Amino acid sequence: MSNSQASIPEMSATAGRVLISAEQIQQRIHELAALIESDYPSGPVYLVSVLKGAFMFVADLSRALKRCCIRIEFMGISSYGHAKTSSGQVKVTRDLDVNIEGHDVLIVEDIIDSGVTLSYLRRLLEQRKPKSLEIVTLLDKPDRRIQPVQVKYVGFQIPDEFVVGYGLDYAEDYRNLRDIRVLKT
Ligand code: PRP
Repeated sequence: MSNSQASIPEMSATAGRVLISAEQIQQRIHELAALIESDYPSGPVYLVSVLKGAFMFVADLSRALKRCCIRIEFMGISSYGHAKTSSGQVKVTRDLDVNIEGHDVLIVEDIIDSGVTLSYLRRLLEQRKPKSLEIVTLLDKPDRRIQPVQVKYVGFQIPDEFVVGYGLDYAEDYRNLRDIRVLKT
């Protein structure tokens, strides 16, 4: 079966055209993993994944990293609710249950849009005194930036279109698509 999810044609059709295919996503993740491996030659690296959108990305990125020791942690941060644009108000819905002080921390995000979420999260985690703190995002929409964010690893820069799939939702739908699509309006 192809990666275009022929088994759920209805959902693929309403989601709209493919912007980034499942194959392109996987290839880029392996490239990002190679960069990360060379930047963190030793010691544990904490992947702090932002729920819910980044769940699929962190699952694939962590499996592409071939070295010890990758620790996977989750935070819940919400700024969209069921709307298509950020409310601008960031809410921590689930905090870390580990102490990251003195550790290498890599925030794993699915998308940076306004930058509100990540600039808030970076400030929050910096207060916890990690040894290092960097960001990897699968998608970056630079045209939408309101708050500047320093991001070390970017999978794809994309145009200002509302995308779904591969973890990204619209009103909680489409997260399970394997490719990234432009939502039909
Ligand atoms: C999305 C996405 C980022 C954030 C980016 O999360 O996962 O966390 O928005 O937007 P920003 O740069 O404008 O702040 P969302 O609030 O939709 O929650 P979700 O991941 O649970 O879908």
